[in-house]
Amino acid sequence: MTEDTTVRDATAGLIARLDVAETEARAVRLRDRSYDLLDLSPGASVVDVGCGTGRAVAELDQRGAAAIGVDPDELMIATARRRWPGAGFRTGSAESLPLPDHAVSGYRADKVLHVVPDPAAALAEAHRVLSPGGRIVLVGQDWDALMIDSSHPDLTRAVVRSQADFLPNPQVARAYRNLLLDAGFQDVAVEAHTGIFTESAFLPMVEAFAARAVTAGSVTAEQGAVWARDQRSRASNGRLFVAFPMFVASACRP
Ligand SMILES: C[S@@+](CC[C@H](N)C(=O)[O-])C[C@H]1O[C@@H](n2cnc3c(N)ncnc32)[C@H](O)[C@@H]1O
Repeated sequence: MTEDTTVRDATAGLIARLDVAETEARAVRLRDRSYDLLDLSPGASVVDVGCGTGRAVAELDQRGAAAIGVDPDELMIATARRRWPGAGFRTGSAESLPLPDHAVSGYRADKVLHVVPDPAAALAEAHRVLSPGGRIVLVGQDWDALMIDSSHPDLTRAVVRSQADFLPNPQVARAYRNLLLDAGFQDVAVEAHTGIFTESAFLPMVEAFAARAVTAGSVTAEQGAVWARDQRSRASNGRLFVAFPMFVASACRP
């Protein structure tokens, strides 16, 4: 398998997981809350950074904002363009947005900063592209606070820790407030919501955690198999339970 194929497969897998997650009632409510916190006024323009397949961009358009989605992954952007043909999408990264200074009155990044190597650089860029008085909303989970019900709690700790360690910034959500303050934002407010996932459609995500823990050497192959088997059994009996705190931070650019 070439490197390109591996990257494409990883994106396709992420798209499949996001597709399952984003229609869940709690996820819909959380997105709505993030739009409310942008405090959109007539003529608002919003950049959705790390837009993935673009649902939020389409929903912001429906709320009357001129929204643009930015993502570095070309497959994500191609999928977004296909799914939402009327909406605007561009390739670009959080650390280097394809926008001029003061271009937008709203900035949103949902489940993104944990994969950004330098979140402080991303927030400096958010400050640059926002107009004075503009609003920023960050949404994301704390990967060290991931809770998975399991018959093997000790193995679960190892699996969760290994999954967190796999990410560039697993704890960034608990740092949103301080990152926003450090970047010069005002009126910073943080809310916590809880993501709860019980559908068997989330089993591949949980199995991927186990595979990662084995690859990282955090658990043995046998332990990984035991842990994953328990999760499969839970999923087939309607007993899967995965939860994590989702932080929603909002602030104003002076
Ligand atoms: C977990 S997905 C979330 C997608 C979307 N925001 C959502 O809520 O469905 C993370 C997204 O961040 C994008 N991403 C990765 N590195 C990034 C970067 N440096 N800047 C901006 N986005 C990035 C990925 O391509 C992916 O689409």
